[in-house]
Amino acid sequence: MASYLPSAISEVASSVDKVIEAVMTPSDAVASELWEAMRYASLSGGKRLRPFFVVQFASLCGVEQKHSLRTAAAVEMIHSYSLVHDDLPAMDDDDIRRGKPTVHKKYDEATAILAGDALQSLAFELLSEPITHPSPSVRCELIYGLAKASGGTGMAGGQMLDLNAHKKDWNKKLVNDLQLMKTAALFGFACEAGAILGESSTEEKNTLKKFGVNFGLAFQITDDLLDITGNERLAGKALGKDEAKGKATFVELDGIDGALKNAAKFCHNAMEILDLYGDNAEVLRDIVRGVIGRQI
Ligand code: IPE
Ligand code: IPE
Ligand code: MG
Ligand code: MG
Ligand code: MG
Repeated sequence: MASYLPSAISEVASSVDKVIEAVMTPSDAVASELWEAMRYASLSGGKRLRPFFVVQFASLCGVEQKHSLRTAAAVEMIHSYSLVHDDLPAMDDDDIRRGKPTVHKKYDEATAILAGDALQSLAFELLSEPITHPSPSVRCELIYGLAKASGGTGMAGGQMLDLNAHKKDWNKKLVNDLQLMKTAALFGFACEAGAILGESSTEEKNTLKKFGVNFGLAFQITDDLLDITGNERLAGKALGKDEAKGKATFVELDGIDGALKNAAKFCHNAMEILDLYGDNAEVLRDIVRGVIGRQI
């Protein structure tokens, strides 16, 4: 695994996977094909960066890992659902994800649509349960934050802009708004969630969200760079498709150097926020340092 992913991430990933496994085997499930596709979508690898951020920032806000894992799992379920739908023929039409056939290739399109829908519902079900956090107002805040980050004002809205951005209208603001919504909003929530779980101040919640948003913007730019400079085997997905598909990216707008410069600016903003946490944020600094030039 590339160096920007610390070894701590695999430990958190396996704990998150255990939570996902446990909730993916309901005793009363009848639509077993659907549950199988949901398991396939959410337990087939992936870097697990978003759940790692939930757990790390929760820990910086005084919350033990065992009390942040369900929120981390909910965020990963939303992310996995977004990938299942992103890969559908009606969207990016991809056959490989995380090094394996995409859900609609392994099963079929209807199953992929339903698996995405059900993963989304399950994520909110998890957040609503008292075992996630004893305080109803904390649970409501988590649900609200995840809904805003993943719905029309967040990920789903950004995906709409991504599909409808016509080349003649491309400009820096449009690309930034699009990437803010489709990718950075969910990273923003993943980081803010730690402070929500820790019942931290509004200021700390906003600061952590800002870290996530800046990281997310850098992360999407480097995903767009990977599409041009990456290696398909390492990335676990088809590359070299964005230009032909007319995707509005900073790489298309400003070239590779311009996009790199932009990503560096967002990483710098994210690093500044980590200064607040001193040595305790070293593992997070490693991730931010490594995002530019990442191969996975
Ligand atoms: C891919 O996200 C989609 C983007 C927002 C760029 P990741 O690169 O985090 O995907 P996985 O979870 O590691 O597969
Ligand atoms: C996807 O962006 C962002 C999502 C919200 C799923 P991309 O379409 O660039 O992600 P990849 O390259 O397919 O992973
Ligand atoms: Mg896409
Ligand atoms: Mg895609
Ligand atoms: Mg991409």
